[in-house]
Amino acid sequence: MILLVGNWKMAPDTVAQAGVLAKKTSEIAKQYKKTVLTTICSPSVFLGTISKQVKPWFRIGAQGVAADVAIAQTGFINASQIKSLGAEYVIVGHSEMRARGDTNETVALQIVRLLEKKLKPILCIGERERDMQGWYLSDVKEQLEIVLASISKSSIKNIVIAYEPVWAIGAQALREATPAECREMIIFIRKIISDLHGEKVANSIPVLYGGSVNDQNAKSFIIEGTAQGLLVGRVSLEPKRFGLLAKSIATI
Ligand code: PGA
Repeated sequence: MILLVGNWKMAPDTVAQAGVLAKKTSEIAKQYKKTVLTTICSPSVFLGTISKQVKPWFRIGAQGVAADVAIAQTGFINASQIKSLGAEYVIVGHSEMRARGDTNETVALQIVRLLEKKLKPILCIGERERDMQGWYLSDVKEQLEIVLASISKSSIKNIVIAYEPVWAIGAQALREATPAECREMIIFIRKIISDLHGEKVANSIPVLYGGSVNDQNAKSFIIEGTAQGLLVGRVSLEPKRFGLLAKSIATI
């Protein structure tokens, strides 16, 4: 099964628009349900509304969770609240959240909170830039190792990893990664997990690619890039292109 995750970020503007978009996306998901499992991670204010569309082939998720539940924190939402709205997945460690201050340690705590409530974290990792010497590899290694050190071996299987090079994300992206760059990083990510927990665990975790994925390049990340799924930002807000994207990976 290919995991296709849409990240709506801060869009759309109204709950009515969110309802329409979720319905259209769920209809797309149904067409390709044999091979693709579609999830939309929406702003948390819309989760209650879009949960009406949840089906075996269409799941929903949130975009962040409080790391600490022991103290009151204005403006944050906790894992129980997310769960009660019907969500199954939660994006953590996204570069836009890291840029606002989430550290590897915060991300690790957020994952612990999610696993406690049986939610599935989508852990985003990726380098800000690439240097010729390969130092960027140690950034990614650190992002992963700090999380892996905080959770038990048995709960690792509930995590999804998304490799998202920061330079490939959003409207300011330099470019998307090449499928070869994606494949290399997925090998590297699995090697880190394998060194800590063995090959079986490493191979059981889905590793997605994210960063400027569209209907033209999606298939190459799955075939040559060896990603088990995709994390899609902008195109997840355009049902027509999202539909073409889903179609392009459904027949692989
Ligand atoms: P993008 O965003 O597809 O718009 O580059 C991806 C992401 O931020 O997860």
